[in-house]
Amino acid sequence: MTDAAAQVRADLDRLLPVLDAELTAPFRTGEAPRLGEAIRYSLEAGGKRVRPVLCLLASEAVGGTVAQALPGALALEYVHTYSLIHDDLPAMDDDDLRRGRPTNHKVFGEGHAILAGDALLTEAFGVLASAALDPVRRADALALLAEGAGWRGMAGGQALDLEGEKHTTPPDLEQLRLIHRLKTGALLRASLEIGAVLGGATPAERSALRAYGAAIGLAFQIQDDILDATATEAELGKRAGKDAGRGKITYPSLLGLDGARKALHEATENALCQLASLPIRSSLAAWARYLAQRAS
Ligand code: IPE
Ligand code: IPE
Ligand code: MG
Ligand code: MG
Ligand code: MG
Repeated sequence: MTDAAAQVRADLDRLLPVLDAELTAPFRTGEAPRLGEAIRYSLEAGGKRVRPVLCLLASEAVGGTVAQALPGALALEYVHTYSLIHDDLPAMDDDDLRRGRPTNHKVFGEGHAILAGDALLTEAFGVLASAALDPVRRADALALLAEGAGWRGMAGGQALDLEGEKHTTPPDLEQLRLIHRLKTGALLRASLEIGAVLGGATPAERSALRAYGAAIGLAFQIQDDILDATATEAELGKRAGKDAGRGKITYPSLLGLDGARKALHEATENALCQLASLPIRSSLAAWARYLAQRAS
């Protein structure tokens, strides 16, 4: 195991039990049990929990605690899980396997999958709005979540990704960077910045973590594209080789695998540079290295 992988393992061993204890709590009781089941199905399927863990680590990196950032971490995993449920719908990527299980709409139907996503997105704002947090930090975190998830962030990027399939204009690197910055980078950037805000970051620390989040967000989607082209379904827990089939604009399709790996390396180095001014940075540095080497 590399040093980075050992650090990541130690962080996961410490933080996943904290997250898992709370993650499905809002969806265990309620008056629409089938919808609750659909939501829990996708949350409990696993997933790497990259966004919530990075949110908690960002809080710690600025001298805050895990408890302070926990509502933000839960909100981020709710938004992310919603984005995956909707990403897999027939109207979007039309996938039938996710997190090692049949996709939500295959099990619960498209209507319930859409509603499970809607409920997760709404609960994300609810969990932050109702947590016992400093009111200024709470308002900042809510605004950051809206920026990362909405039409200036993930939802906007997903729209550009879909439009890109039609190839009405020849794909270019600038457009590809924009798609990746929005569809994946924006929520990862928000994960770090929300953790920073809830942990009580100074303005300089906050902007360093925002820049780090943007850089690993780009790196994360480049590696997702590379894995789609090179890994197996068993490794990924989702279908492999699907981007080429759908005519997606990806780093490997535009730059080739070597070009994509070079871009991944550059984005990772950029992320590492952003950490220089932070007092506590070894864990986030390890995560940047680990995410670039990940195999799933
Ligand atoms: C997959 O995200 C979709 C992208 C934004 C690339 P993850 O690779 O974080 O998915 P899970 O949460 O581990 O299933
Ligand atoms: C998804 O990108 C980004 C999201 C916002 C969900 P992909 O469509 O490449 O994600 P996978 O490969 O299906 O997980
Ligand atoms: Mg997609
Ligand atoms: Mg997809
Ligand atoms: Mg993908």
